[in-house]
Parts: sequence; C-alpha cells; structure tokens
Amino acid sequence: MGFQIYGVFRLSLLFFFCFTTLSAAALRDNISSNTQINSNSVLVALLDSHYTELSELVEKALLLQTLEEAVSKHNITIFAPKNEALERDLDPEFKRFLLEPRNLKSLQNLLLFHMIPSRIEERPSQESSYANKSSHRTVTSLCKDAFGENLRISRNKNGDKHISEAKIIKPNDIVRPDGIIHGIERVLIPKSVQQNFNSRRNLISISAVLPQGAPEVDPRTHRLKKPASPVPAGSPPALPIYDAMAPGPALAPAPAPGPGGPHHHFDGEAQVKDFIQTLLHYGGYNELADILVNLTSLASEMGRLVSEGYVLTVLAPNDEAMAKLTTDQLSEPGAPEQIVYYHLIPEYQTEESMYNAVRRFGKVRYDTLRLPYKVVAEEADGSVKFGQGEGSAYLFDPDIYTDGRISVQGIDGVLLPPEETEVAPKAAPVTSKVVAQPRRGKLMELACRMLGALGQDSQFNSCH
Ligand SMILES: *[C@@H]1O[C@H](CO)[C@@H](O)[C@H](O)[C@H]1NC(C)=O
Ligand SMILES: *[C@@H]1O[C@H](CO)[C@@H](O)[C@H](O)[C@H]1NC(C)=O
Ligand SMILES: *[C@@H]1O[C@H](CO)[C@@H](O)[C@H](O)[C@H]1NC(C)=O
Ligand SMILES: *[C@@H]1O[C@H](CO)[C@@H](O)[C@H](O)[C@H]1NC(C)=O
Repeated sequence: MGFQIYGVFRLSLLFFFCFTTLSAAALRDNISSNTQINSNSVLVALLDSHYTELSELVEKALLLQTLEEAVSKHNITIFAPKNEALERDLDPEFKRFLLEPRNLKSLQNLLLFHMIPSRIEERPSQESSYANKSSHRTVTSLCKDAFGENLRISRNKNGDKHISEAKIIKPNDIVRPDGIIHGIERVLIPKSVQQNFNSRRNLISISAVLPQGAPEVDPRTHRLKKPASPVPAGSPPALPIYDAMAPGPALAPAPAPGPGGPHHHFDGEAQVKDFIQTLLHYGGYNELADILVNLTSLASEMGRLVSEGYVLTVLAPNDEAMAKLTTDQLSEPGAPEQIVYYHLIPEYQTEESMYNAVRRFGKVRYDTLRLPYKVVAEEADGSVKFGQGEGSAYLFDPDIYTDGRISVQGIDGVLLPPEETEVAPKAAPVTSKVVAQPRRGKLMELACRMLGALGQDSQFNSCH
C-alpha cells in the first residue's frame, strides 16, 4: 500500500517534470491529440489486465501516446512480465533508479524493450510441426536506444518458448485486433539500461534482477482485484462481434427460438427482464423501460444475444433526456429501435472500466449494435462523456445494473450518430481511421429481420 501512495506522488512529480522540461512530450501531444483509441485495443486491455505492475509503469513512463501512435499504424506484441517479476524479483535499488524522474528515458527504454512492432502469435499448428526440434529467430523491439540489441525467440526441445532469457509462461494471454500480450516470467533488461544503472551506482556488473529462489511473498494482496464476475469489466465481447457478423462454417445455424436451449449457458431473456425490472425500480428510466417492454422483439433479441454468449452494455438515457426527443424523432417507423441500438455496446463495461479508459487515453471509441456507427467517449468534468455536440450525454447514474453480462449505465442525454446531430460536420476533425464497411452479418440480419417483421425496415437503409 505504501508503495502505491508513493507511486502516485511520484507520478505527479513525473507529470510536473514532463510538462515543465520535456518539450518533446508537448510535441507528441500535439501530434496525437486527434488520435482515438478503440475500446478493444490491446493497450486498453493491458491497462485493465492482471499485469498491473507493467501497466502502472507504462503510465508512469508516459508511454501511452507513443504506444497509441504505434497501434494506430501497426500491430504490437507485448511481452508482459508477471507482477512478481517487476516487484520482488527486481532489485529494489534498480526499481528506485527506474522511478527517478531523471531516469525516465531508462524506464521508457526498459518497457519498450518488451514490445515488438508486429504481431507475434503463438499458433498451435506450429507446435506439432516443430515438435522435438529447437528453433529460434530474432526480433527487434520498439526500444530505439537498444544499440542493436535484439530479442531472441526460441523454443527448446521440451517445447518451452523463451524470449531472450525469459520463459514465456502465458502465450497469447491477451489477444486483440491490434496486438497481443504474452506473459513472461522475468523482466528483460536491455544492456544500455543495465549500464546506465551500473554507472550511476559506480558498481560494475551487478545484476538488476534478484537471484531466483527468493521467498514467495505476495506483499500486495487483492490490490486491483475485482470481484469475480462471469466476464471481467472491460472485456471485449465474449464472442467477437465480427464473428457474429460473418458466421463461419463452424457456427451452427441460428438456434430455435425460445430461451434455455441445450447449448445455452445463460438465460439471457431472464437477465434482460431482470434489468428492465431494475430500471423500473430504479426510477427515472421509465421511458426506456417502456420502449423495451413494448417492443418485445427488441428485448427478446437482446435476450437471445446474451443467451448466445454476447455481453452488452446499455447506455440508458433517463426520462428527462427522452422527453427532449421530438415526437418526429420517435414516431418515425423503426426510430425507437434505431435509437436503442445506438445505445447498445457489445462489450461489458462498467463505470470503472470506462472511466479508467477515457482517463488514460482521452478518447475511446465503442462499437454499437447500430452498425457501423461507433460512440466516442471522453473524460469530461470527472465523468465520462459520450458522443459529440447535440447528441452527447454524461454518465449520470453509474452501474444501475451489472450482472457480469449486461451492464446498464444511466446517461443524461440521447446519443445520436454524428450525421444526425446539428453540429457542423467540419467542426470536429473526422478520425483518419476509416471504418470499414461492415459485412452484412448475423447481427445485421437479425436487426433487419426483426424490423422487417414489424414492417418497418424501409427506414433502415442497411437492410437493402
Ligand atoms: C501543433 O499543431 C498545430 C496545428 O495542428 C501546428 O500549427 C503547430 O505547428 C503544432 N505545433 C508543434 C509544436 O508541432
Ligand atoms: C493487425 O493484425 C491483424 C491480424 O493479423 C490484421 O488483420 C490487422 O490488419 C493488423 N492491424 C494493423 C493496424 O496492421
Ligand atoms: C518427441 O519426443 C517424444 C519423447 O522424447 C516422443 O515420444 C515423440 O514421439 C516425439 N515426437 C516427434 C514428432 O518426433
Ligand atoms: C407502451 O405501451 C403502453 C400501453 O400499451 C403505452 O401507454 C405506452 O405509451 C407505450 N410506450 C411507448 C414508449 O411506446
């Protein structure tokens, strides 16, 4: 605990240091002020992962912007030392050295040395073909000051994989569209950093890594541990939405309607009913609850998705917000569904996970079930603000309902996709990342089928 407080203090020192003396950081700020990060990025995943020591250091090293730029251009692979490796296995003096503001560069180099500017994925098929053979290859890290020191990925005859001297203990631990994290057993220290450390101490060749066999102590119990839930907050869809959009041959045809089929692990319908009940009891969300009750097809669709293993975050506009919608906006055929679909995020997010993400990255984009629109979230006034201009809203009643698969977050406005707001389109710079035209997929089909059944699909352009 003491360390954490110390760390926060140190962090603010680092910020002070950075903003007053490092104009390079200001330059970087300028360049990347328009970058937005996807909520399913490997960076978001890292910061929410169990690699808490590594992610703390990445933040302290002020590397987030550098890494954001990296993932906007290419995949990255992160070899993440387990927490103990950065804690008890590390010489405390070395750790102090890394955390001193004047050694920021060493800390950055050390961390970037664990990251590769490409995607290195462990594939089971490779396993068998290389069985009983040792092999290796070298890769170059993101650390520019490693003076040509490369990393060596090798496997021995037992099939153990190593990155340089560190054993890879959790291959493919975290897999995201823009990168991948492998868990490793110990810290990789570039020679340049070790030399800096040694010269600072005027001592030669003292290893920064403590000898193996130190007593097993867990000095920090449950520090970032979240209560066990079926899906940890911030997880991507249990099944990636893109899988649902383009079903492969392995996917069975749509299951027979009705809850609780033999393959269902979750009774999604019951959970949806449960959250609508919660909304009604919570108060102030009757309009939305009404829409969900009246449009039974919408509610049962959500239930079915949850039954199939999807997770959903509902951004629920409160009654005051709904009251501001004009009757025109609501009475158009299919309008309520479209509005609700734009408020459904196919991820399980809680107030904490969203707030952490926007606080660290500035802007985060979430997919919605209203394809291909995304909703942008950013930190504002100590809260999370969704959307832009007219169609924006603040997180108002956090965590109204969170059961591990459905999360309901109350907001104080109705979100509208950028095209539908009155704001001049030029005002906000459009993100350079072009959203790929989504393939007509399962979710889309479902939405269209549903609207078609109501005779309202003419409003839903994508259905044609
Ligand atoms: C910051 O960005 C503005 C415009 O986006 C540009 O004119 C200015 O030169 C940039 N400043 C630096 C230090 O790069
Ligand atoms: C990252 O890797 C995935 C899978 O190989 C690929 O589809 C994607 O285009 C890559 N992203 C970038 C930014 O290169
Ligand atoms: C690998 O070695 C094990 C035991 O040494 C042996 O049983 C196995 O058949 C070998 N596999 C291949 C593909 O050579
Ligand atoms: C839902 O149905 C009830 C009763 O049929 C009706 O009074 C209410 O206005 C409907 N709400 C919406 C939002 O359509």
